[in-house]
Amino acid sequence: MKLPATLPGHIAVIMDGNGRWARRRGLPRKAGHAAGAETFRTIATFCRDIGVRNLTVYALSTENRRLRPGEEVEEIYDLLRRYISESLEKMERDRVRLKFLGDLEPLPGDIREQMERAEKVSARYDGCLCGICVNYGGRDEIVRAARELMHLSSGAETGDVTEDTFSRHLDTAFLPDPDLCIRTGGEWRLSNFMPWQLAYAELFFTDTLWPDFSKKELVSILENYSDRNRRYGGL
Ligand code: FPP
Repeated sequence: MKLPATLPGHIAVIMDGNGRWARRRGLPRKAGHAAGAETFRTIATFCRDIGVRNLTVYALSTENRRLRPGEEVEEIYDLLRRYISESLEKMERDRVRLKFLGDLEPLPGDIREQMERAEKVSARYDGCLCGICVNYGGRDEIVRAARELMHLSSGAETGDVTEDTFSRHLDTAFLPDPDLCIRTGGEWRLSNFMPWQLAYAELFFTDTLWPDFSKKELVSILENYSDRNRRYGGL
């Protein structure tokens, strides 16, 4: 596969369309999420191979967790358990770093322990850094950052709070802002996904349902990305 000369350093993905993918096949929704998790593994290792340094995906939003039937949330939790334990087994082969973002506190304790372990074990790899957002909401993240700042900086001057200092209290403090955001599944919105970090990202929407998303389609999006002229507000 021929790749464009300019690649984004950080790709963010809203993996939408798992439920529809399953429905079209007469399968339960959880089969769509399971297929989606496999697609994520394929795309993450492809990003590692082509030299994309960071990939961050939206696996479960604060709203999904609150508004979807408890049964579906439990199914996604089970899938996460399975995904992380498979990732631990395949770590030497996959060689990607895993990081979990979002408000992880309300998650079941065993998943949080698995997450910590996967982060620790995978920290030695310098392939693509894969951020998986779980119980993540952009507004919630901003409020958590503001609370942390208030807590840490009593007596500080208002001028001490800059975009830089604020960014350091977000879940993504260790990441550069995404250059490109892809949403699959045919909807044209961000659904509370990284509103701060995506301020200057190039947006790309595709009708493809996430489980059908392929390396080939990613390459064609990367070609489109490399043709765009990013001005960051300048001329
Ligand atoms: C959106 O599709 C997808 C989700 C809410 C869950 C995404 C979760 C995964 C891909 C699996 C877990 C991920 C990892 C990395 C282990 P939808 O259910 O809203 O689809 P629909 O719009 O077709 O109903």
